[in-house]
Amino acid sequence: MFSILVLHGPNLNLLGLREPEIYGSITLENINRLLEQEATALGVEISILQSNHEGALVDTIHSSSEQHQGILINAGAYTHTSVAIRDAISGLKIPTVEVHLSNIYRREEFRHYSFIAPVAIGQISGFGTESYILGLKAIVNYLKNRGG
Ligand code: DQA
Repeated sequence: MFSILVLHGPNLNLLGLREPEIYGSITLENINRLLEQEATALGVEISILQSNHEGALVDTIHSSSEQHQGILINAGAYTHTSVAIRDAISGLKIPTVEVHLSNIYRREEFRHYSFIAPVAIGQISGFGTESYILGLKAIVNYLKNRGG
């Protein structure tokens, strides 16, 4: 059975309270519950971590390579700043799908560049909670088709 690491970056713990006009009113706990349900339907395991700390996200990516076959990540604002998270993903060569609730290309220019996108299999952006569900399906499909 595939095991997928789900990483939520900074401020995503505030979902529900934070800029609901952009991110909606769903809480992170609810998103995680939907992800658990989808994982069960897909026949995979997921481990979920949210952190506001770049180093904690990097450490978790490092320790993931033996336990997990893929990563689903919403790196939040670190998407646009973190060479360290990008290097952790590319260094371990662990298949990664990047997701965003909002469409980052319709927002401020500083959100248009993702350091993670060039080292990810692909990116899903702009579908709210559905971005995570689509992202989970995408990483699982990728792993199944790869035959690993
Ligand atoms: C986000 C988009 C980022 O630009 C922002 O910093 C976030 C959330 C999203 O899911 O839409 O924290 O990753």
